[in-house]
Amino acid sequence: MNSAEIRQKFLGYFASKKHTIVPSSSLVPHSDPTLLFTNAGMVQFKHFFLGSETSDYTRAVSAQCCVRAGGKHNDLDNVGYTARHHTFFEMLGNFSFGDYFKEEAITMAWDFITNELNIPRDRLTVTVHHSDQESENIWIKKIGIPKERVIQCGDNDNFWSMGETGPCGPCTEIFYDHGADIPGGAPGSSESDGDRYIEIWNIVFMQYNRTIDGHLHPLPMPSVDTGMGLERLSAVMQGVHNNYETDLFKEIIHTAEQMLPHTEQARDKNEHLSSLRVIADHIRSTTFLIKDNITPSNEGRGYVLRRIIRRALRHGHKLNMPIHFFSRLVPVVIKIMGGAYPDLKKAEHAIESTLYREEDAFSLTLNQGMKLLEKELLSIHGTVIPGDIIFKLYDTYGFPIDLTADIARERLLQLDEIGYKKCMAEQQERSRQSSKFDIDYNQNEQQMEILRDKSSTFLEVTHGETEAQIIAYIPGEKDILVLDKNSLLPRRWRASR
Ligand code: ALA
Repeated sequence: MNSAEIRQKFLGYFASKKHTIVPSSSLVPHSDPTLLFTNAGMVQFKHFFLGSETSDYTRAVSAQCCVRAGGKHNDLDNVGYTARHHTFFEMLGNFSFGDYFKEEAITMAWDFITNELNIPRDRLTVTVHHSDQESENIWIKKIGIPKERVIQCGDNDNFWSMGETGPCGPCTEIFYDHGADIPGGAPGSSESDGDRYIEIWNIVFMQYNRTIDGHLHPLPMPSVDTGMGLERLSAVMQGVHNNYETDLFKEIIHTAEQMLPHTEQARDKNEHLSSLRVIADHIRSTTFLIKDNITPSNEGRGYVLRRIIRRALRHGHKLNMPIHFFSRLVPVVIKIMGGAYPDLKKAEHAIESTLYREEDAFSLTLNQGMKLLEKELLSIHGTVIPGDIIFKLYDTYGFPIDLTADIARERLLQLDEIGYKKCMAEQQERSRQSSKFDIDYNQNEQQMEILRDKSSTFLEVTHGETEAQIIAYIPGEKDILVLDKNSLLPRRWRASR
């Protein structure tokens, strides 16, 4: 079954059980300042759970686009290292707003995966919250799962919250066993982080609203929120254990592989696999984020987007990919996902050109930054990348710290984060000190330093061209334009302009 069929089957099944099919909402949660991105299917229904809004329906089903790359649910660091984590994924979910509760939710979930999808029962294990006797009884007595495959877990695993505040509650999860040849142990065991037992479905019993002081207030009506990752389910249904081997990713990875230079193509495929997977994951998230009107910038959501792009470009650099390889992957994503999300096609040009510009802007400093890092790594003693180097990579070459952390992880190195933060604090202090522009307008070194600190991106180039935006105009004896990018320009240039 391909992914489009699975998505359709899920929606159809719950529609036949009187659920209203609700389209995926934007990745930017509307009027919800507590959240960076839509990170679960329930986000668009938050107010129904809280009882602050009422819906026309009490049962809903959706396939929701989600991004987990910041905030409470952040999988960015795991991408490329596991078979199952993504920055972007689709969550299949059914919801009850004060309608059915535990028994019906569990029964329908089990019916769908074992009867509709024919997933073998003996491959399935479930977990329940240790305090939730009712769910445990339903699994054992009603569904008939052997007692030893119903595992009790604590809050860490089986209490789901949307964020620091908001709806939350105990949950029961269904795991699929990919087989003894895959490293990893059963849920609740010390090896549960491996890829053998994969959580495919989380059924949350929404019972509380957590407020900022940490208190749990009972919700007006007990509700149900469920989430099943389409990518994980596709892996199960397509008989592969790794999400990146499903139809959602295969063609993206294949297209990227075709772009590898001949020297790289001649090497062992496995050397490239992890980077190709990171690239495939990141092109999906960036394509969808830009489609939802987020643009790369230096703060907030835009900065998360920029970080994801830069991270992908760094992996491309590692594989010696040609420039603009990343934007060239957009049509493949749209080919795979455009049927379910027709807006993608309309935004295709905007997505491609945004990524193209980001590739242009970062490629030079990426090369230079990598050279600096390689040089520094030759001279470091021990296994820690010093804070001033991390800071220089960030400040001068535009390497977000998670990008440097990604490189460090590949090479089994650690980051001196304390040293980095110190450098950052010192820079902020310098910036604060010099934040007044009414000082001395003479074009001297000090002035250049101020401009450098004011600007958002500092390019350490002495020649070449780039586009920049004017972010301030300071009239004076000599007028000053502050650009969002700037550079220590050659003396000759400064003198002549
Ligand atoms: N909201 C629940 C989750 O994201 C279903 O896992």
